[in-house]
Amino acid sequence: MPSAAPSAAALLQSARALLPRSAAPYSRFPVAALLESEDGAAHPGVNVESVSYGLSICAERNALFGAIARGAARFTRLALVSETMRPVLPCGACRQVLLEHAPGLILLVERPDGAPEEVPLAGLLPRAFTAFKSRP
Ligand code: THU
Repeated sequence: MPSAAPSAAALLQSARALLPRSAAPYSRFPVAALLESEDGAAHPGVNVESVSYGLSICAERNALFGAIARGAARFTRLALVSETMRPVLPCGACRQVLLEHAPGLILLVERPDGAPEEVPLAGLLPRAFTAFKSRP
C-alpha cells in the first residue's frame, strides 16, 4: 500500500535537517531544499559555495539537478528553509530553472512564526521564457 504524502510541516522539518550539509563559508547563509518527486521520493539539496563566488550553486538547483541525475522526472513540492530567514524564496535563476522542469511545483516555505505556507512557483515568474522556436 502506498504511504500517504508527508505533511508540509514534515517536509519542512526534513529540509531543516539538511542545513548542516550546506557549504556556505562566504555568505554564511546556509539554505536547504527538499524536492519531492511524483513517486514520493525526496531529493535533498543545499547551497554549495566556491571561493570564486559566481560558481556557487543554490540549494534549489542542487536538489533539482541531483533529482534528475537520479532519474526523477516529475516534481510536486519543494520545501525550502534557511537558518536565519523565514520565509526564504528561490532566487530568479532558480525560479527559471525550476519552472522549466516543474511548471506545477508548489513551494513550501515557513511563515515568520514557523507555520508552513504553500506558494505556487508559477506565480513567482509570470510570462516566463520556457521554450524557443528555432529557425527552420
Ligand atoms: N541561496 C540559495 O541557496 N537559495 C536561495 O533561495 C537564496 C540564495 C544561496 C546562494 C548563496 O550560497 C547564499 O544563499 C547567499 O546568497
